[in-house]
Amino acid sequence: MSVSVPFEIIRDPAAMRARAEDLRRDGKVIAVVPTMGALHEGHLSLIRLARARADVVILTIFVNPTQFGPNEDLSRYPRDEAGDLARARPCGVDLAFCPDAAAMYPAGAQTFVEVRELAQPLCGASRPGHFAGVATIVTKLFHLTRPHLAVFGEKDYQQLAIIRRMVRDLDFGIEIVGGPIVREPDGIAMSSRNAYLSAAERVTARALSAGLAAAQAAFAAGERDAAALVALAKAPILAAPGTRIDYVELRDADALTPIERVARPAVLAMAVFVGTTRLLDNRVFTP
Ligand code: PAJ
Repeated sequence: MSVSVPFEIIRDPAAMRARAEDLRRDGKVIAVVPTMGALHEGHLSLIRLARARADVVILTIFVNPTQFGPNEDLSRYPRDEAGDLARARPCGVDLAFCPDAAAMYPAGAQTFVEVRELAQPLCGASRPGHFAGVATIVTKLFHLTRPHLAVFGEKDYQQLAIIRRMVRDLDFGIEIVGGPIVREPDGIAMSSRNAYLSAAERVTARALSAGLAAAQAAFAAGERDAAALVALAKAPILAAPGTRIDYVELRDADALTPIERVARPAVLAMAVFVGTTRLLDNRVFTP
């Protein structure tokens, strides 16, 4: 795989922007892959997508405090920068931007980017302020890395929808590329938060993808009723010990509005606590 510039780690936001401006002046097509680190195959798949599309691939690693609620896992979020860089470099990352929180949010920062309707339901309902934190940090990362395209995973379906809408509404002029969900061999969607699961919880967590697969099978056999599909998806989760459903909902795949029947693409999205760990999964149904 050809690497177009020597590998670099940049921590200073101003240095990052200057470097990106230089790359643009040299006519390079820049792709950015924003992450919070603890990289797994899901993240690496996005890096490979970026590599195939751009001259320069920038990986950002930043555990963004403004997207965590007061009782969430900011302080214990897994951090392993050296391991992350060792995993990412062979996939074709040219440059890693790894700022610290004080550099990204100097004292007195008080401006936030808010995408309204799309951020209300699903994860937005149980994590107030979360998506404003995401939209704000992604805006800042875009301004600092000056990408032509940016790659995000469909694993965080609502996040991807919100970023697409933000880019459209605010004229960012950046192409947003979605990457498919990468799963473990037993079906569980890869997530940095899977590291929190005990061995028993890790088995229990299969109920999420099993529910989606059951709904998918019914959909393939012709079921179009939203309540019926949601009930099928919930069944294995309700049967699994130590789970608590935050939401399991079928919504329009673009507008994320509630639907009663699947007449156009729809997303079956879920957030489920397994023990104290909140896991996400989803599947798109296209009639
Ligand atoms: P993080 O959870 O680290 O995820 C970084 C990117 O990897 C996101 O686009 C996410 O959707 C994608 N991803 C995670 N698991 C995946 C999987 N199993 N398959 C495919 N893609 C997967 O999402 C964030 O960080 C943050 O909110 C961020 C956008 C970086 C802003 O802080």
